[in-house]
Amino acid sequence: MSGNVSMEKIVSLCKRRGFVFPSSEIYGGLASCWDYGPFGVELKRNIKDAWWKTIVQERDDVVGLETSIMMHPKIWEASGHIDRFTDPLVECKSCHLRWRAEELGDEKCPKCGGELTKPRMFNLMFKTFMGPVEDEASTIYLRPETAQGMFVNFENVVTISRKKLPLGIAQIGKSFRNEITPGNFVFRTREFEHMEVEYFVKPGDDKHWFDYWVEERFNWYIDLGIKKENLRLRQHGKDELAHYAKDCYDIEYLFPMGWAELEGIANRGDYDLSQHAKFSNKDLSFYDNESGQHYIPYIIEPSAGVERSFLAFLIDSYREEVVEGEKRVVLSLHPSLTPIKVAVLPLSRNEKLTPLAKEIYGQLRSSFITYYDDSQSIGRRYRRQDEIGSLFCVTIDFESLEDHQVTIRDRDSLAQIRVPIEELEKTLRAKLSGESFDASPLWATRQK
Ligand code: GAP
Repeated sequence: MSGNVSMEKIVSLCKRRGFVFPSSEIYGGLASCWDYGPFGVELKRNIKDAWWKTIVQERDDVVGLETSIMMHPKIWEASGHIDRFTDPLVECKSCHLRWRAEELGDEKCPKCGGELTKPRMFNLMFKTFMGPVEDEASTIYLRPETAQGMFVNFENVVTISRKKLPLGIAQIGKSFRNEITPGNFVFRTREFEHMEVEYFVKPGDDKHWFDYWVEERFNWYIDLGIKKENLRLRQHGKDELAHYAKDCYDIEYLFPMGWAELEGIANRGDYDLSQHAKFSNKDLSFYDNESGQHYIPYIIEPSAGVERSFLAFLIDSYREEVVEGEKRVVLSLHPSLTPIKVAVLPLSRNEKLTPLAKEIYGQLRSSFITYYDDSQSIGRRYRRQDEIGSLFCVTIDFESLEDHQVTIRDRDSLAQIRVPIEELEKTLRAKLSGESFDASPLWATRQK
């Protein structure tokens, strides 16, 4: 195991606490397909929101786009996916399991030791038929990347947005790949979500923007709490580069199974627009007002996977510690990512406490993602909230009925402060934006 936690512990926490369930579980599951539970869906949404905020909202040179999953089949000819989006596959002659040839160290089947067939190329795109007739003319593909939707809309976007480069188009959406060996939980699946930017630049400026995006994307993970020692950059060797790429860096994370790709940043040169111009017979060159020249822009592409980020953020924030002689597991997720900001916990399920606790819960819900829990002992509920990564627990006790004050407990420092109910929302807001608890250091100060 690399890093600070095993994959088994993460999978078990995800199931136990409602982050991720096996898909179609009551039917025995479907290999490598996963469903995101109440807390998982919040974490996933927060990751996408954080990405969108830095990539689109906070910049004036990137705009958003959402394109369809099913696209004209010629797109995949132009992009090279029909011919080259393939993996060499071998099959075991005894148990008929299939393997990626490049993953095998020896000549035998890793499962049963059987003899393997010679490698043959296997296309990773999912094929289906559009309309009622199942023939070659109606064959279409589920997109294996969102990128092509942005290339084929370049002209549309340029026309309605600023007419100078650099210009970025960003998209978040589902992609599908018929991976031969999916696995490692949500690390490699056949259905996943991409977060991709296609950044169109003037040829000659590409090296500058490539370096810029490698740094920007690396720092994005650090800013959201990933420990620097668990991230590294790896440049692709010439033999490893995708057919469209002039240069490529992977941002790698130290997953429990070792260093592996979290995100790729590629310099795609003018490959994509040139190919689509050729296959569509449309002029996709850009007229540069400043230089008075027409040229095919180069593209820098930072391409990340939502699920891999999800897994990295979970692993990196996982901590086991002993507090007052008792073990606690805590997900120290960044405040903007953590699924639950505030948990409202009455000291016990008592008829005197419940109305006030419910009233406070009702008030906070419109401002924060809030969770109400009144089952089992308060100690167990604190532990449960720690495992979900809930930032603050608000406890209502019998004194609250007299003094109209409640206790806020901070997830990371375990500091507790007592505040008047009428100041609760304001105080939580200030704490969420990093104000420290008087009692002890808070998240923002501890991370620095
Ligand atoms: N448009 C370029 C592109 O798709 P990629 O390196 O194949 O590049 C980019 O994919 C990112 O998408 C990866 O770094 C990874 O985070 C995610 N990804 C790719 N295949 C995946 C899979 N089968 N399951 C989960 N995530 C995947």
